[in-house]
Amino acid sequence: MAYTVPKLTDYSDAALNRAEEEARSAFDAELMAVSAGTGDIGENIEIVRVRWLGREKGIVNKQIPDLWLKPAPKEAKRSVGQVLNRLKRHVEIYFHPVIGNVPPIERQPFFLELQAVDITLPGARRPIGAEHPILKTSREIVAVFQKLGYSVAEGPVVETDYYNFEALNFPPNHPARDTQDTLFIAGQQAKPQRERLLLRTHTSPVQIRTMEKLRPPIRIVIPGVVHRNDPPDASHSPMFNQIEGLAVDTNITFGDLKGTLDYAMKALFGSSVKTHFRPSFFPFTEPSAELYVTCFICGGSGRRGSDPCRPCKQTGWIEVLGCGMVDPNVFEFVKDNGYDPKRVSGFAFGMGTDRLALLKYGVDDLQLFFQGDVRFLEMFG
Ligand code: DAH
Repeated sequence: MAYTVPKLTDYSDAALNRAEEEARSAFDAELMAVSAGTGDIGENIEIVRVRWLGREKGIVNKQIPDLWLKPAPKEAKRSVGQVLNRLKRHVEIYFHPVIGNVPPIERQPFFLELQAVDITLPGARRPIGAEHPILKTSREIVAVFQKLGYSVAEGPVVETDYYNFEALNFPPNHPARDTQDTLFIAGQQAKPQRERLLLRTHTSPVQIRTMEKLRPPIRIVIPGVVHRNDPPDASHSPMFNQIEGLAVDTNITFGDLKGTLDYAMKALFGSSVKTHFRPSFFPFTEPSAELYVTCFICGGSGRRGSDPCRPCKQTGWIEVLGCGMVDPNVFEFVKDNGYDPKRVSGFAFGMGTDRLALLKYGVDDLQLFFQGDVRFLEMFG
């Protein structure tokens, strides 16, 4: 007896399960009969397909929706809908383009495999992620110097007083130490001062660490995380990033420093950018300077249309880094490794990666970089 779709009076889960199972086995049995029977299998299968999937009278596309779903009481509609979907899938899978080419008797393994995956559902979107804007900026800056022949060096974030201060010509108790808002590791008082641990306040200690390991000539850039006792706000953070540079050789001059940094700024911010050096002070360089570039937001005019340009405070210039010629007192600490200040000279520089990323992307709150808000980070994807 060929299967006919029964009317449902009972919409309980148990009754629905029974009705579903009955329809499913009826379909399977019809297919079995076709594949075991005589006659043109392809033609007979097409008959079964139309009987079950036909748009106008098909069992799963018309009869079951009319006889089960439409009259179902409101609270049972959802369950009936699920039964119908499962049956539809069960039937459709047999007419799948791959399975359709397999002799019916050999279809079962394909059926099992395909049944596990609903190929009609849209695929899951898996975002592949993107570089964090600070890391991206850091890599770009490092790449500019790598093209000039610089290597990359790194050092520890928890540093000793010796490398962070003393060997950089900040003598114990020197007031220049006060400018660094240092976070010290607790419980270090029993140690001699130079061995006491702190969170490095700049990447400059890696200058010394590298010169202890490598003899001159050297050219290195040092990206890394530093810490200072600065409460977080739109332009400060207790944790931030720097990129340090150091070049030591015979006969390195302030002209080399200017030429190198002018080239690097043009490579980073565009060839129309101008550079400008102003005298400054750092204990480990002499002479020292701050480097300014023409504001790449307003082009140096100090104004954006009729508004004042905020990033450069209307001056048309933006400070991007500190730099200078390595102080001979610094070379004295690594003299034994070939850094006799009478024979070699060098320049150094240090910049704030986060601040450059802020300017580059026109972001007005530094904290956005550290909060991990996906809506913000996706803008850089
Ligand atoms: N270490 C300095 C700071 O964090 C920045 C700096 C200035 C680095 C001058 C240098 C330099 O290498 O030559 O404020």
